[in-house]
Amino acid sequence: MPLSEMNDMIAKYSARLPLPQDASVGPRPREELVVLLTGSTGALGADFLAALIGNNRVAHVYSLNRSPNVVDRQRVALERRELDPGIVLSKKLTSLEGDVSKADLGLSSETFDELKRTVTHIVHNAWRVNFNAPLSSFGGYIEGTCNLLRLAATSSHAAQFLYTSSLGIAQGWRVEDGIVPENAHWRPEAALTFGYTRSKYVVEHLLSKAAKSGLPATTLRLGQVCGSSATGAWPTTEWVPILVKSSIALGCLPLHDTILYWLPSDTLAAALLDYITTQEPLPELLTIIHPRPIAWKDIIGSISDALGQLPIVSFPEWFAKLEAISKNASAEDLERIPALKLMPFFRSTAHENATGRSRMVPKFESKNAQKFSETLRNEPPVSHEHAHAWVNYWKRCGFIPSQSAELHINSKL
Ligand SMILES: NC(=O)c1ccc[n+]([C@@H]2O[C@H](COP(=O)([O-])OP(=O)(O)OC[C@H]3O[C@@H](n4cnc5c(N)ncnc54)[C@H](OP(=O)(O)O)[C@@H]3O)[C@@H](O)[C@H]2O)c1
Repeated sequence: MPLSEMNDMIAKYSARLPLPQDASVGPRPREELVVLLTGSTGALGADFLAALIGNNRVAHVYSLNRSPNVVDRQRVALERRELDPGIVLSKKLTSLEGDVSKADLGLSSETFDELKRTVTHIVHNAWRVNFNAPLSSFGGYIEGTCNLLRLAATSSHAAQFLYTSSLGIAQGWRVEDGIVPENAHWRPEAALTFGYTRSKYVVEHLLSKAAKSGLPATTLRLGQVCGSSATGAWPTTEWVPILVKSSIALGCLPLHDTILYWLPSDTLAAALLDYITTQEPLPELLTIIHPRPIAWKDIIGSISDALGQLPIVSFPEWFAKLEAISKNASAEDLERIPALKLMPFFRSTAHENATGRSRMVPKFESKNAQKFSETLRNEPPVSHEHAHAWVNYWKRCGFIPSQSAELHINSKL
């Protein structure tokens, strides 16, 4: 049933894809690039925007976000990432409010025509990152992708279309099935975990169809993005910061027996620039993960160090402490221990550790992503310095206590 729902969606939205004969044939300039970016008010989008504005080969950026108050919300998003909020006043930036689920993107005909005439690249990054939403609720997002793809195809410069997908779509992949290939064609069962991952599967297939019919469409399949190596900024709503804050209150950090392909957000933004400025045609899919994975035990050791040697225990032991509190959790507990709101996720991680399954991380083909990105090829492993930068960022934004004395008081349950 879920598989047929995905296939039905692929069939339904394939009819909305631009036809190869509708496509403009370029030429696309090599300098003076003009980029349309969606989702720039989000975590990754703010990093992408700052990188695009700062790059000499990018002449102009149109950001396209939903209303209201897009300029104010953009400023806040940049500030939260500790990026220059003055970017919103840059002459290189036009901030648009619109609705990509509409054929005209909710823009005036003048603005729509201006985009059609000028854009050389479309980076479609806006998506609902919600693991509880069913696939059926992503219809407007998939429709929006087709609308943007049509704009790309019919634009004067045959704009290159780039879409941010997620490696989460391979969450159900079994090591026994071999390496996860760097293309959209593999076991759909692996993508079934959430409505969110199913929606990404549908879009990857639509883009693959578009690419095979000759349109310049590329999926950027992203692995876990960690905090920026420049600022340490890692959104406090994500599971790792939640785990760290909760561990301070629990008095210990968990040892997760696994390896990590985490890529810092500023590295990802720099890799995006590599993909935008390359002069070679991009393949239909790039799996963007760190080429030099690291062990969780190393990074959690560094986080422990940054927190004044917080003890490390096995994941099941850590989870047992969490579960004990969950039975009578007060509002104050939920505030100090936000992991209480993600019990099913941490329960399954504890179970994977207890059964040894956590070690069975599949390998991912990522040759194309590296071939087109010097940044990715040269990226040093995530290290002690990164971990300290994340912890300092969480302290600066008041997410965790800033003094080690407070850290210790906090850990007395
Ligand atoms: N962060 C990661 O580790 C990671 C890993 C893999 C893939 N990704 C993918 O990367 C992309 C960005 O992720 P993120 O972590 O930056 O997410 P995020 O912080 O939640 O940002 C999501 C962005 O999408 C916009 N958006 C959501 N629903 C929208 C709608 N109906 N109409 C218009 N805009 C809408 C948001 O706008 P508002 O400000 O208006 O809400 C925001 O700009 C997503 O496609 C995500 O699947 C992220």
